[in-house]
Amino acid sequence: MILYLDCCVRETSRTRRLAAALLEKLGEDERRTRYLYKEKLSALDEERLLERERLLAAGEYDAPAFRYAREWAEADTIVIAAPFWDLSFPSVLKTYLENIYVTGIVSRYGKDGRPEGLCRAVRLYYVTTSGGPLDERYGYGYIKTLAEDYFGIPEVRLIKAEMLDVDGFDAETIMKEAIDRIRV
Ligand SMILES: Cc1cc2nc3c(=O)[nH]c(=O)nc-3n(C[C@H](O)[C@H](O)[C@H](O)COP(=O)(O)O)c2cc1C
Repeated sequence: MILYLDCCVRETSRTRRLAAALLEKLGEDERRTRYLYKEKLSALDEERLLERERLLAAGEYDAPAFRYAREWAEADTIVIAAPFWDLSFPSVLKTYLENIYVTGIVSRYGKDGRPEGLCRAVRLYYVTTSGGPLDERYGYGYIKTLAEDYFGIPEVRLIKAEMLDVDGFDAETIMKEAIDRIRV
């Protein structure tokens, strides 16, 4: 199952356009799409945090509160489409990560106290576009570290189109070249 997480805000999102080319290339596998702005995702406030701790203490990993975490852990391939915002990505993706990072479902601690991934996915694609040059450290870099070192997803790939909002750069040409690179 391909889990596609759409974190794109704009109707005319170029990041979504790039992701669509990738999904087409990946083919007709069963796909679950989550438009994060349409999901009922909430930040972990005190009430939710206490409830989560209670569920984990009771071993209730099947609870509805953990449905996104189970879905993430069970996906074979994960595609995240998120525009480059303020050096990283829109906050809805961080809220999603807070919701799915459930110890015992996506990750656990080994005997030596180090995290071990429990996710099935063999590959995660991070699709992004940026107005200027893309700084990979806090958006893509963060997701890559989480995926590889904490969730056990061995391969993380970046698909990008950058410099789309800079005067003198032809955004449409840059997009077409990025899509061509996906299609080869
Ligand atoms: C709230 C916001 C923050 C942004 N921050 C950055 C940034 O830090 N660096 C950058 O190069 N572009 C930034 N941009 C420009 C977007 O990355 C760029 O327009 C991107 O292609 C938007 O993707 P979309 O077409 O999928 O919405 C920002 C745009 C918005 C709306």
